[in-house]
Amino acid sequence: MDVARSTRHFAKRAGISVGLAAGMAALLSGGFFPDMADADPRPVPAEGALDGFERFVEADGDFAFDPATATRGLVHLGSYFVPMGDAAGFHHVYTQPGVPEAWRRDGVFPDGTILVKEIATHRVADYTTGRNVASATAPRQWFVMVKDARGRFASHPLWGRGWGWALFKSDAPTHNVATDFELDCLGCHAPALSSDWVYVEGYPALRGSALPASDPDREAASQK
Ligand code: HEC
Repeated sequence: MDVARSTRHFAKRAGISVGLAAGMAALLSGGFFPDMADADPRPVPAEGALDGFERFVEADGDFAFDPATATRGLVHLGSYFVPMGDAAGFHHVYTQPGVPEAWRRDGVFPDGTILVKEIATHRVADYTTGRNVASATAPRQWFVMVKDARGRFASHPLWGRGWGWALFKSDAPTHNVATDFELDCLGCHAPALSSDWVYVEGYPALRGSALPASDPDREAASQK
């Protein structure tokens, strides 16, 4: 990949500085993980692909999307909240019901795993619970990842590193604005490489209990 071009493109897409993007691109190209094969080297769980991903994936590997049914049948995996900036708002992540259990059992996302990250804008107001309480307003973007442990669409620019990658925005919700996952997604997900490109620390369901002993928030709270 042309790193300079990809860095500018990526910085523009991601709304971050070219310097930060250049650092990420250096990680990607500079030997940090130079020998990564396109297919995920981790074992494929014995059972077949999880159901449900087909509604996002057409026969040729292009993505299909309908915001009305995007999270139907999925469970809430967890949320990030971004207080300000281009990505501001709630980042709610959904997956199939069997995924948290499979991750806890096998340490991998099963083939066919869907991850839908719905970004919703937010408003802030005072409530009886406290001041500056944030609540979600309208969904405005959906990031979609579909686990592909079998290399289904090896030459497709939206498939690689073990996943299919897509992005839909509310102004034209059936149009995938991602065109090349390496340019549009991978640089920002590099810090999560060791957990299969997914920011798993935000998803308590993957840890198997609501508040594990190692939870830093609980430790901080218990010291008060
Ligand atoms: C600006 C950097 C950035 C870009 C660009 C980016 N992501 Fe992410 N993505 C993140 C971060 C950081 C998280 C977790 C924290 C959050 O949502 O704020 C995340 C979370 C996700 C999640 C939820 C699962 C997880 O990894 O925790 C999905 C799905 C996702 N991204 C898909 C994509 C796809 C598909 C693309 C490309 C079309 C993309 N992302 C581009 C930074 C980025």
